[in-house]
Amino acid sequence: MKKIVLTIACTAISLLAANYAPCAGCHGAYGEKAALNGKSEVIKAWPVARTIAALKGYKDGSYGGAMKGIMKGQVARLSDADIEELAKIISKF
Ligand code: HEC
Repeated sequence: MKKIVLTIACTAISLLAANYAPCAGCHGAYGEKAALNGKSEVIKAWPVARTIAALKGYKDGSYGGAMKGIMKGQVARLSDADIEELAKIISKF
């Protein structure tokens, strides 16, 4: 029984992690890098609400700095549910 629960948990985690994979190149595997040589803040362990506000803001153009166009491209294809999952992942880094 324990083994089954563990397998399910691992599968769920790897599915979630897959969502963050495209972000890791710029933000680091655990959000520990400031993207593109310091052009973003370090997002590691940001609270869920802060990440959701930033990602939704990039999507509708209401958030961001000089490089926000880069992030708009990253989040355009994400649904609200995807954004919430990503925010949860980042909050646990
Ligand atoms: C091509 C590099 C690149 C990729 C890929 C990328 N980002 Fe970013 N990200 C940036 C840059 C540059 C900024 C700062 C943009 C600005 O000027 O507001 C940023 C900003 C952010 C911020 C807000 C931080 C701040 O400085 O206010 C969050 C949260 C974030 N990214 C999450 C993500 C997530 C989640 C993904 C994957 C879906 C992702 N990023 C993919 C480059 C990238």
